Amino acid sequence: MAFIDDIKAKAKTDIKTIVLPESMDKRTYEAAEKILKEGLAKIILIGTPEEIAENGKGFDLTGVTVVDPFNDPNKQKYIDKFVELRAKKGVTPEMAKEQMEKDYMYYACLMCKCGDADGVVSGACHSTGNTIRPALQLLKTKPGISSVSGFFLMEVPNCEYGEHGLFVFADCAVMPEVNAEQMAEVAALAAESFESLVGAPAKVAMLSFSTKGSAKADCVTKVQEAVAIAHEKYPNVTLDGELQLDAALDPTVAALKAPGSEVAGHANTLIFPGLEAGNIGYKLVQRLAKAEAYGPVLQGLAMPVNDLSRGCSADDIVGVVAMTAVQAQG
Ligand code: ACO
Repeated sequence: MAFIDDIKAKAKTDIKTIVLPESMDKRTYEAAEKILKEGLAKIILIGTPEEIAENGKGFDLTGVTVVDPFNDPNKQKYIDKFVELRAKKGVTPEMAKEQMEKDYMYYACLMCKCGDADGVVSGACHSTGNTIRPALQLLKTKPGISSVSGFFLMEVPNCEYGEHGLFVFADCAVMPEVNAEQMAEVAALAAESFESLVGAPAKVAMLSFSTKGSAKADCVTKVQEAVAIAHEKYPNVTLDGELQLDAALDPTVAALKAPGSEVAGHANTLIFPGLEAGNIGYKLVQRLAKAEAYGPVLQGLAMPVNDLSRGCSADDIVGVVAMTAVQAQG
């Protein structure tokens, strides 16, 4: 069974409610129709009657709940919650109302925060920054977690590495600069993400251009420190580093460069030393190896919110909604 079919089967076992705030985009309606036909989630669309009538023309929206942000009986509850959460940042009821009406992503996050929905998927026509920021401001991190990061579940065809070609790559989406402490936390969250989505033990490689001290530079030292922190803070995570990519994946190279490592040669969860490497790395594998790249899926948030690529198809939205629903179950 392909990875995404497995995720869809899991989503159907406990139906969650996912908000799609991008009612200005036709792909949202095509995805909503497919999600309801497949029985993957309940869907809430945010939009005015005019927006829904114009952009949703021709789609069967039976079963979709539509929330009009200008005429919603729950709106005052969301404004109050927004002010409660952001008063220290100077947010007044007027500012909250205006922001929610201008940017439906804020409305969607508040619906989650107030318990009226289980997750949000957006980003088909908004940048990653604009998609993530409302979630960071309103939903915040899970207890005990300091930073939100983003991973891709990579499914590489005809690949003998990883878990039969399945990998988690992180952070590929959120933190432009990552310190050793944050890299260790990304690794622990990524291991959890791999195990919950793939259902196999995570083997985490902390990547660098150096293997076990073969090169010296400040950025190598950062990865070595991250490994030490991870071993201390997350002793149950199977993790090693610093490793070059070939040593992480290939048992023959691993035997030469990192003999005795439990991870080298068998890694399925790859932690990049920075966003540049992570973002470029996943796109290289996606384009050159024709891998499926599911994500970016956010990890560390108190409730599941996920971003879409602006080039996404309706089927991509369906897949990300299924993953979001499974995260909400967990
Ligand atoms: N984890 C937790 N909280 C965070 C994080 C984080 N990683 N980053 C910022 N925050 C919090 C801040 O503390 C702040 O909280 P506060 O308002 O309560 O004080 C709030 O989020 C807003 O933070 P800002 O720093 O004001 O927001 P910023 O404008 O920097 O946005 C963002 C943060 C959106 C994550 C930014 O770092 C960013 O744009 N990252 C890169 C995204 C990107 O372009 N990725 C690549 C494309 S993805 C792809 O290719 C598919």
